[in-house]
Amino acid sequence: MVACCRRRKSTFHTGTKSTSVGPDHPSWHAVEDNYVYIHNAFRNHLEHIIQLSARNSPKAKSELEKWWEILQVHTKVEDEIFMPALESRGFSVPDFIHEGHERLATTIPRVMEKVPGPEAGAALQELKDALMQHLDEEEDAIMLAMVNTFSVDELWALDSLIVNPKLDYCPKDLLVKITIWWFGNISWGEGWALLKNFRTAGSAGKLPSDQWQKLVAGIPALQGLSLEEVAGDKLLEGKSPVSVNREGDAVDPTPNTKDAADVKDVERQEDDINV
Ligand SMILES: [Fe+2]
Repeated sequence: MVACCRRRKSTFHTGTKSTSVGPDHPSWHAVEDNYVYIHNAFRNHLEHIIQLSARNSPKAKSELEKWWEILQVHTKVEDEIFMPALESRGFSVPDFIHEGHERLATTIPRVMEKVPGPEAGAALQELKDALMQHLDEEEDAIMLAMVNTFSVDELWALDSLIVNPKLDYCPKDLLVKITIWWFGNISWGEGWALLKNFRTAGSAGKLPSDQWQKLVAGIPALQGLSLEEVAGDKLLEGKSPVSVNREGDAVDPTPNTKDAADVKDVERQEDDINV
């Protein structure tokens, strides 16, 4: 799978078409796993399934089942964690993102019925069209919203929820399966970057209780769980030191991009006054 996929250069996907946010953004590493590398694994695995199906391989169906099982884990995290977290901070998730998930969910039963068979090619193409459109839209709209809405530590904290054993989004056996699948369906370069991000994920994303509370308060799927269960080993002792702005108001100690831009504006105004 790994070797044959990497040889088919014309259908092998790397990087992102998104121009809204890229590696120069300070939060890039905290979003690239969930919005670029795993997306490319879904794209590349589906390309492989299409080729298996074209060769009438009996493996096409079982690979498609695996693809769908993993995509469902991914979309469930988006639907239950990332999107409510964004909405709770005032970002309105566009309808086309929800429609993209619905289109995939309604297309897949038809495709499962047709693979294997004479109509498998057309059905898989329909699925590919739905997937490619949705992933591009998500990279453009949601990846940008994530880096503009959350601090780097908040992004890693949200990422930690995916593998939190108390939440059951990705139980350990499934995590092993997904990890092997993930590395097998992306380029060597993206695999290396993913490995480095796994290491970062182990230590980043630790927040004090008040910041965790603020982060998860608007996520209905996490209500009913204690903060200790939700945060796990990402819970820092104590509370955030209170930061104050020039007017003496308490401000968020982990500014997002907009806050950081506001701070720069204040600094610029100060420089102008000093000149
Ligand atoms: Fe999605």
